[in-house]
Amino acid sequence: MSSDAEARSEAAGTGAAGSGAAGSGSSRALRVLVLNGPNLDLLGTREPAIYGRETLAEINAALTARAAELDVLVAFFQSNHEGALIDRLHARDFDAAVVNAAGLTHTSVSLRDALLAIERPFVEVHLSDPATREPFRRINFLEDVAAARFVGMHARGYTLALEELARRWAAGLIPGHAGIAEAERG
Ligand code: DQA
Repeated sequence: MSSDAEARSEAAGTGAAGSGAAGSGSSRALRVLVLNGPNLDLLGTREPAIYGRETLAEINAALTARAAELDVLVAFFQSNHEGALIDRLHARDFDAAVVNAAGLTHTSVSLRDALLAIERPFVEVHLSDPATREPFRRINFLEDVAAARFVGMHARGYTLALEELARRWAAGLIPGHAGIAEAERG
């Protein structure tokens, strides 16, 4: 996927309500935004010894397939620009997010603030385990506000994050937002 491009297997905010996982008094499907930060568009060729050889498109394809099995609606967004990531979060057309903020994890108060402001739970994902790398990667502005974390598991971490959110939705642990349900009904 190209930088800033947004691909949706099923567009969040449009289309029919899902029929599966119930959550917080709603019978519609969970909507998950998968947000990827700077340089993750280069996965596949970027430092493969650290990040693996899977491209972001391949990771997203695997997530799309797993989301279909889980009856989850998934949307994808990657950007190399902090403001674009924050603007995407502000759209709030999802119930929960999977977030790999990449280098912004270690620098961005603004991204942390946005994730708190939108009041949606998110699962933090990193292909590598930043805490075992250079000391500056131990600074993490997201970990204490993430609902869960999967680090150092390469692409599998994204799938585990999606499954964790589906589990929480089915258990009624993720609020369904009335505004989204209304938009869904048109
Ligand atoms: C990363 C880890 C970050 O420290 C790094 O800046 C990245 C990728 C990961 O997925 O392992 O860009 O988030």
